[in-house]
Amino acid sequence: MQYKEFLRRELGEVLPDTLLLPRGFHLVGHVALLTLNSELSQFDKQIGEATLKYDSKIYSVAVRVGPTVGIIRRPAYKLVAGDTDTLTTHVENEVSFRIDPLRLTFSGGNRKERISLPRMVQSHEYVVDMFACVGQFGIHIAKQAGARVTAIEINPEAFKLLEGNIQLNGVQNHMNALFGDCRVVHPVNSADRVVMGYLHDTVEFLPAALDILSSNGGWIHLHATIPEKETKSYCNTISTISHDDGYLSAVHVRKIKHYSPGIVHYVFDIELTIE
Ligand SMILES: C[S@@+](CC[C@H](N)C(=O)[O-])C[C@H]1O[C@@H](n2cnc3c(N)ncnc32)[C@H](O)[C@@H]1O
Repeated sequence: MQYKEFLRRELGEVLPDTLLLPRGFHLVGHVALLTLNSELSQFDKQIGEATLKYDSKIYSVAVRVGPTVGIIRRPAYKLVAGDTDTLTTHVENEVSFRIDPLRLTFSGGNRKERISLPRMVQSHEYVVDMFACVGQFGIHIAKQAGARVTAIEINPEAFKLLEGNIQLNGVQNHMNALFGDCRVVHPVNSADRVVMGYLHDTVEFLPAALDILSSNGGWIHLHATIPEKETKSYCNTISTISHDDGYLSAVHVRKIKHYSPGIVHYVFDIELTIE
């Protein structure tokens, strides 16, 4: 049964018919994350309890109470039902992640990209993941493509989980983690590919990514959230920064997801060569 229908059946007596119910939730390990409209938020506990009954994999239910904020991208969720221990193991395409989705971001909309990016990577490559969090891109690449990976993370809480996830997935022989600001703490002139999975002012980190890249060139995957009409000027900015660093660039744009009204999450696949 569809979730919306299930809620209507469970809570029909409590919820006025006029209220628009959520169509689904984002499941991270045993934690269901819900976004409720303002009229529904007064029923969050009842909806949480009903959601626990919907799927036996769900042990905790949380609702969004604000935007994701700060450099470390702290999400704002409130637990409304179930187990208060929200540190969980999320499994995706045979990769396991220990994560607390109430404290760290694990985007449902990036799932396809996490799974498909390793298919672009050859096993002989050296890849640097500049904004690793718990290893969302880096561990998929190390495990599925077999490439050598360095993952950099600035948040100590995410870094600890990243180190654990490297062990958990058995990729410690070809993946390592560096703690700190990726603009400062990074390998130099060595990577075949750099992943920039960060959504705020990402282009400002491009000089650091170019520093990490092999002087022979390679690929950079730069994620950004911008209005659709600004993609061309964003590509021009990328080309200018790359050119100033001595590279020729070809920029391919792919849409990842709708982000917010008028704003789209894109990934810019930048192929860098030298003259
Ligand atoms: C929103 S998460 C994205 C994780 C993953 N790359 C993805 O796209 O799903 C961004 C991560 O970058 C980290 N971060 C932000 N600024 C950083 C910096 N200057 N150096 C290293 N990590 C940074 C944050 O702490 C956070 O864990």
